[in-house]
Amino acid sequence: MELEAARFLRAPVVVAVVARTDPGHKTPEWEQVLCCGAACHNMLLAASASGFAAQWLTEWYAYDREVLAAFGLSEEERIAGFIYIGTAKEDPLERPRVEASDITTHWQR
Ligand SMILES: Cc1cc2nc3c(=O)[nH]c(=O)nc-3n(C[C@H](O)[C@H](O)[C@H](O)COP(=O)(O)O)c2cc1C
Repeated sequence: MELEAARFLRAPVVVAVVARTDPGHKTPEWEQVLCCGAACHNMLLAASASGFAAQWLTEWYAYDREVLAAFGLSEEERIAGFIYIGTAKEDPLERPRVEASDITTHWQR
């Protein structure tokens, strides 16, 4: 319970990015969703370029309808992410990563 109460206190700023697509819009819904992800990523880049640390998290509460309703989201809206922004206390741990060449295909004429 204490952990849950303190979740949004892990950084001085937490931005909730809400995705609301418009099925009738000329832009396909899939691309609208991708744009929302791009907005999240741009926020990470902007925070980093400004000298802050930032992390994109969803965790369970991004998918809980009760929590979303408390945030004022409608049934059609979803959380794309919570962008936590602050000052890093330590360097992030590195983790195993795939080789770019393993997931990239090159075509040549
Ligand atoms: C859409 C999205 C949701 C994420 N949600 C979580 C999460 O709920 N919990 C978590 O530990 N990491 C989550 N992450 C991953 C962290 O943000 C991750 O540490 C960060 O992307 C750094 O990635 P890296 O390890 O590739 O540098 C999420 C990342 C993305 C893109």
